[in-house]
Amino acid sequence: MLVLEIRDIRKLSKQIGYKEFFVKLICTLEEDYKNWESFDKCARLANHVDGGVIELMPISNEEFYSFKYVNGHPQNPKQNKFTVMATGQLSLTSTGEPLMFSEMTLLTAFRTAGMSAMMAKYLAKKDSKVLTLIGTGSQSEFQYLAFSCIFNLEEIRFYDTDPKAMEKFQKNMSKFDIKLSPCKNSHEAVQTADIITTCTADKNYQTVLTKEMIKKDVFINALGGDCPGKTELEKSLVKACTIVVEYLPQSRVEGEIQQLEKDFICTEVHEIIKKQKKLNVSTHGTILYDSVGFALEDYSVLRLVYELAKKNNIGQDMDLIPKISDVKDLFSLLDNEVE
Ligand SMILES: NC(=O)c1ccc[n+]([C@@H]2O[C@H](COP(=O)([O-])OP(=O)(O)OC[C@H]3O[C@@H](n4cnc5c(N)ncnc54)[C@H](O)[C@@H]3O)[C@@H](O)[C@H]2O)c1
Repeated sequence: MLVLEIRDIRKLSKQIGYKEFFVKLICTLEEDYKNWESFDKCARLANHVDGGVIELMPISNEEFYSFKYVNGHPQNPKQNKFTVMATGQLSLTSTGEPLMFSEMTLLTAFRTAGMSAMMAKYLAKKDSKVLTLIGTGSQSEFQYLAFSCIFNLEEIRFYDTDPKAMEKFQKNMSKFDIKLSPCKNSHEAVQTADIITTCTADKNYQTVLTKEMIKKDVFINALGGDCPGKTELEKSLVKACTIVVEYLPQSRVEGEIQQLEKDFICTEVHEIIKKQKKLNVSTHGTILYDSVGFALEDYSVLRLVYELAKKNNIGQDMDLIPKISDVKDLFSLLDNEVE
């Protein structure tokens, strides 16, 4: 069974290059969302604990089965632990044989940013130039890298309640050719924005963005409201937007739309990707992509990374599934001498 560690994902993204990796990832996500009907889908299984959540995210189609284990503990950074940590597995559906086990903390940041950029490609104004980031923690730089594959961005306006997170972001971003505008608050950060990503972490009904703050039509990519009782946008702003979600049964419980009545109308991502519905900020006004993260996205990144790792000889083959000549003789593994 192939095992991918952090260093393998680093190696892969270095060998292939960030941009090329994001381009491949966006294509893979589009391909899988186009095949929406072929997937056996369910809302993720969430165990809510004090100050956080631990989730299992399974999905399958004829070819592969995948699952991700992921947590969300917004207070973790106080103990120098990540808010979001993840691992995942890819298996062959026909036999159930596990093919790969992988780190997914980095892969989650890649796939989330890949989804953000893919959705912006369809929904944001084609000439979007100003990206606003509210929350400059782990996900933030990945967001810029992915958006820069689609748009000719000229400026990033950013704000975080933690000045150290803002300093870290400024330092990491200084090697890229983009104007960096640190802001004093969210209000200042969203001015002139074409695309706004909110990626804050707090298990609370936060009000990071209000309706009054949005002065022109904009694409809002809201990532941080992804759990019951954990939202980022004022209810009246959510109500005023055209809304796109990944998978309604899950988003209804976890997304910004948990604040709305059950009969609101919204579009699912696959309808956009299959061009069954055409939405864009230039014709429909402010659009909210109410992202919570769906298992299909983990499936996409796992199957892509599996293919690339095999091709580039990356990762380690580990003895996690027995290999013996008589598969009914499992006991022989205990009976024989241990090397
Ligand atoms: N939708 C998805 O697919 C998806 C995927 C990954 C992470 N997430 C969510 O995105 C969020 C960010 O994840 P992360 O890994 O970057 O977490 P992180 O803890 O590394 O960063 C979050 C940042 O938000 C800042 N913050 C908190 N409240 C704020 C506020 N009111 N205004 C401005 N900044 C504020 C914190 O100081 C911190 O720097 C989390 O809520 C996580 O659950 C969603």
